[in-house]
Amino acid sequence: MNERTEQHRERLEAHVFVCLNDRDSTHASCAAAGGEETHTAVTEWLRERDAYWTAVSVSTTSCLGLCSERGAAITIQPRNTWYSDVTPADVPDLLESEFGADAERVRDDR
Ligand code: FES
Repeated sequence: MNERTEQHRERLEAHVFVCLNDRDSTHASCAAAGGEETHTAVTEWLRERDAYWTAVSVSTTSCLGLCSERGAAITIQPRNTWYSDVTPADVPDLLESEFGADAERVRDDR
């Protein structure tokens, strides 16, 4: 085991998790609600600002307990902020509110 907490903290300021959970049931899932497209919108927004995996990391995740038919669930850590029903069209406003228009507020100093 190799603890790399300090190394990671120095490099990354926030981590966006986008739920892509899919399930074989009638219960809502983020995969069925456009989660992949929302994940793509998140990565593209950050890439356009040179913040993708330099200051803000992005990962897909399983169920966050915010399942909806209207969009994907996102959490941003360590800010402990949570969103449901996120569509690709919501991503610019969501990320701008979190990080600033040019991703200049990647530290949690809102
Ligand atoms: S399936 Fe995404 S939050 Fe539950």
